[in-house]
Amino acid sequence: VFDLSIQFETCVTQTLVRLNALRDVGALLRAARPSEPGLRVLVLTDERVGDLYGETVLESLEDAAFEAREHRIRPGEASKSLEVLGDVYQSLVRFELDRDGQILALGGGVVSDLAGFAAATWMRGVGFAVCPTTLEADVDASIGGKTAINVPGAKNLVGAFHQPALVAVDPSCLQTLERRDIRAGMAESVKHALITSEEFLEWHEAGVERLSAVDLPLMRELILRNLRVKAAIVQRDPCEHTGRRIILNFGHTIGHAIEECTGFALRHGECVSLGMLVACRLSQALGLLEDDGVVGRLAKLLTRLGLPTQLAEPIEADRIMATLRRDKKVWGGQERFVLLEDVGRPVVRGDVPEGQVREAYESLLP
Ligand SMILES: NC(=O)c1ccc[n+]([C@@H]2O[C@H](COP(=O)([O-])OP(=O)(O)OC[C@H]3O[C@@H](n4cnc5c(N)ncnc54)[C@H](O)[C@@H]3O)[C@@H](O)[C@H]2O)c1
Ligand SMILES: [Zn+2]
Repeated sequence: VFDLSIQFETCVTQTLVRLNALRDVGALLRAARPSEPGLRVLVLTDERVGDLYGETVLESLEDAAFEAREHRIRPGEASKSLEVLGDVYQSLVRFELDRDGQILALGGGVVSDLAGFAAATWMRGVGFAVCPTTLEADVDASIGGKTAINVPGAKNLVGAFHQPALVAVDPSCLQTLERRDIRAGMAESVKHALITSEEFLEWHEAGVERLSAVDLPLMRELILRNLRVKAAIVQRDPCEHTGRRIILNFGHTIGHAIEECTGFALRHGECVSLGMLVACRLSQALGLLEDDGVVGRLAKLLTRLGLPTQLAEPIEADRIMATLRRDKKVWGGQERFVLLEDVGRPVVRGDVPEGQVREAYESLLP
């Protein structure tokens, strides 16, 4: 059992990583509200995850004297929409979920982003808990309190900060997750290592085989290590005011542009894999990263983890640059790149010449 209590100014996120956490989630939520029977919990999940784990969670809640109901959405990014959010509100109306009620996200980042935003806005904020079921959500999306939906042309730009009171991770859920999604989640873990610690990077290098085989004890350690890294960063900047949190965007500037230009055909983590390589090459070109070894090490590690280091289908550099320029124009005039001076030493630069970005990007072309 791994437990971690993440203290924010206004709240605490109780985080635990344990096998069978799904079976215990009712008791865990109940521990915070021992003497109030009949509280309501809306479990928000997607069809796939609901089929696999919905019953376990509903039973666990009912055993702990909660009134529980499930709301299922279609799997996939398209469900992070105003329309689907509207359906969730309708379920909350029908269920008469009041201010003492809670919303529990059971699923990947799509479910937790949508559920968190519903929890932040329903009755101006009700309790929120997360049972993440993808590696992406285990290591990244489930904590930090960023919640969001998409509107056309603006991914993740309608949202709120709303910290979950409980994050209960059951690593055994990873056994039913597609291997491609496991690999994609691993990219975020490599990102956390690159921006924080040489030791954590070496840990990945030493564990590739067991990580790729979804060895549960090691996955449990992987998740806890990532939660600690992310918690430490978001605790210092919970609502993204000081700018510290921006280092979590390492690899994401180019990553998002690739994601967009491929019409979201690649997994987010696959785009982050490519984006991290570009960020490292750019760091080298700008003379920040002196050691030639980091780019080579990263490429080797990503390859061993089954993540892409080159684009399978070429996307013209002009299209990527146009996407970056458009983002820059629309979202506040400055594109800030998170770069590296060394493993564990991220720096943020706002003045990167476009020619160098282009050149670093072109290294991905087949
Ligand atoms: N809020 C944040 O801080 C944050 C951080 C990172 C990513 N995100 C968001 O997370 C989303 C991506 O999340 P994701 O990668 O988890 O995708 P996802 O939620 O779409 O899940 C991927 C697929 O896996 C299936 N699935 C989930 N768990 C499963 C399991 N245990 N077994 C079998 N199938 C399972 C789902 O049905 C879905 O089809 C994006 O929308 C991204 O913007 C948010
Ligand atoms: Zn990401």
